[in-house]
Amino acid sequence: MDEKILKIKDLHAGIEGEEILHGIDLAVAPGETHVLMGPNGAGKSTLGNVIMGNPAYKALSGSIFFDGEDIVSLSADERSRRGLFLSFQNPLEVPGLSMEAFLRGAVRERTGKAVKIFAFRKKIEEICKLLDMDPSYVERDLNVGFSGGEKKKAEIFQLLMLEPKLAILDETDSGLDVDAVRTVSKGIDHYLQNGGALLIITHSTRILDALKVDATHILVNGRIVKDGDGSLVEEINRGGYAQYVTEG
Ligand SMILES: Nc1ncnc2c1ncn2[C@@H]1O[C@H](COP(=O)(O)OP(=O)(O)OP(=O)(O)O)[C@@H](O)[C@H]1O
Ligand SMILES: [Mg+2]
Repeated sequence: MDEKILKIKDLHAGIEGEEILHGIDLAVAPGETHVLMGPNGAGKSTLGNVIMGNPAYKALSGSIFFDGEDIVSLSADERSRRGLFLSFQNPLEVPGLSMEAFLRGAVRERTGKAVKIFAFRKKIEEICKLLDMDPSYVERDLNVGFSGGEKKKAEIFQLLMLEPKLAILDETDSGLDVDAVRTVSKGIDHYLQNGGALLIITHSTRILDALKVDATHILVNGRIVKDGDGSLVEEINRGGYAQYVTEG
């Protein structure tokens, strides 16, 4: 059996009529934390969306294996059911749908089973505590009127409810105050302790301080120009991305 949870080979992908990713290779093992960094417009969010199966993005060639299965032709819902999760760089507001109703639907969809309401409520309470969130947020319409930071916390809330096998977090730390970064790190750590794998897309290294990074990948102009361990983050902090653009 393949020990990787995610294995991407020579992936070319983009949006209607335009290739944005030009041959991506990436492999993540269960329990590992990978960091994806790169300049604005490099294609990081595109990669997250293509892995998740956002229909606006198309895989043109190459393969994406998740948990040993080729998922390229699966819908986003089917990928979610298999244990993939993507948090959005800009979470959507959903008027008319409470966060609790949304979570209940998402858990039902993910597990294929009716939600046991008592256990569900208990878990919600635990996560509220862990994320330092007032339980009243859960009764509010999803993300409606949430501050930028609260929306990001709501994404981590979903992560903890759904317990995916691989979570892709797209700039979950951007716009968070110092305390909120710590709280969100705590949530991510909780997820990791249960054996989940993580691909974290970020521009800031504050969120990484609390995490043990197994691998770093630098994406420039739709190509991974360098792979390394956690120390690569320091190298980027010192020298920026220009050093890799000339290499690539
Ligand atoms: N739906 C879309 N429609 C048009 N262009 C798109 C779309 N999605 C991505 N692109 C283009 O693809 C390129 C890569 O975008 P992407 O959002 O993946 O970058 P990124 O690495 O996530 O950048 P950032 O760090 O700013 O979030 C950009 O030039 C962007 O304009
Ligand atoms: Mg992005």
